[in-house]
Amino acid sequence: MANRIARALRLIPVAALGLVGFASAQQRVVNVLCSPDLAWCEALGPAFKQATGIDLRFVRLSSGEGLARLRAEASRPQFDVWFGGTGDPHLIAFNEGLTEFYKPKAWNDIREDLRKAVGETYIPLYTGAIGFVVNPQVLQRRNLPEPKRWTDLADPRYKGLIAMPDPNTSGTGYTILATLVQIYGEDQAFSLLAKIHRNIAQYTRSGSAPGQLAGRGDVAIAIQFAHDGVKFAMEGFPLKIYFPLEGVGYEIGGLSLIKGAPNREAAIRFIEWALTPEAQAIAAKAGSLQIQSNKKTPVPPNSPKLASITLIKYDFAKYGSTDVRNRIVGRWTKDIFPQPR
Ligand code: G6P
Repeated sequence: MANRIARALRLIPVAALGLVGFASAQQRVVNVLCSPDLAWCEALGPAFKQATGIDLRFVRLSSGEGLARLRAEASRPQFDVWFGGTGDPHLIAFNEGLTEFYKPKAWNDIREDLRKAVGETYIPLYTGAIGFVVNPQVLQRRNLPEPKRWTDLADPRYKGLIAMPDPNTSGTGYTILATLVQIYGEDQAFSLLAKIHRNIAQYTRSGSAPGQLAGRGDVAIAIQFAHDGVKFAMEGFPLKIYFPLEGVGYEIGGLSLIKGAPNREAAIRFIEWALTPEAQAIAAKAGSLQIQSNKKTPVPPNSPKLASITLIKYDFAKYGSTDVRNRIVGRWTKDIFPQPR
């Protein structure tokens, strides 16, 4: 009997150690839904592993696709964190209970205007403005002027020369749609979108793809985030950035903790790390030129400076609501997209 008890006692620490080992083994990985440019997503893993010893696995999905995936997995979440992508779908995910607000230690280092704009819903990760990314060579060959206004894009002389992202899949596409609705009111925006549609060569799945088409000369004008255009220009493509005179919408890119994250502890370590100036500086090294949310992260010299751009008063609460997104994306999908062009 005494022997049996002694044997059992000797086994306990081993079993307990085994359990501890199992618990932390579970937290040695974080699964990230990653929505910015692929190069930035790819650079995160090695740096995070070096800083924390935790492995990072990611899937790159555009913001609209990411939201659809989180909805589909709501009863059994597969991701721990949603990193980047436009803010509207992050806010919608929060409103739908797919994510939860986590207040990071760096909260007070995050630019106050960004924090104020979204409240305690998701964590601001970066900001950037929409613009026209133009290939002047294509325009010159056709003797066409550079577009200065949103309404210029309706000019039939630009037929087949414009690309923009699809607002269903791409958060950038949704930001463009929401921008026009905010500038012109819904009906007028949709009649402008119908005219622009006749000039569209391609609706792309992701937000940055139109600039590649413009860079290669397949189209003359890409509508997308200006910082993506700057990146392509720095890579050597003949591109110029314009901001339409009526004003442009902008994003407050998001960082969210997934509700029911399988690796919550690792997710929080990732979030804390991702907001440090060192981690945020990885973006610029990977060619992503948004303005990062931490005040202490240096602003890359080539980043478009928001203070010098005419920004619209983007209503984040309104356009980050499920109903409004369903209505305007639904209307675009039903009334604009199927029209001939
Ligand atoms: C690009 C931009 C980001 C933006 C993202 C949205 O990567 O650099 O600033 O948040 O697009 O991607 P999506 O494919 O959803 O438009």
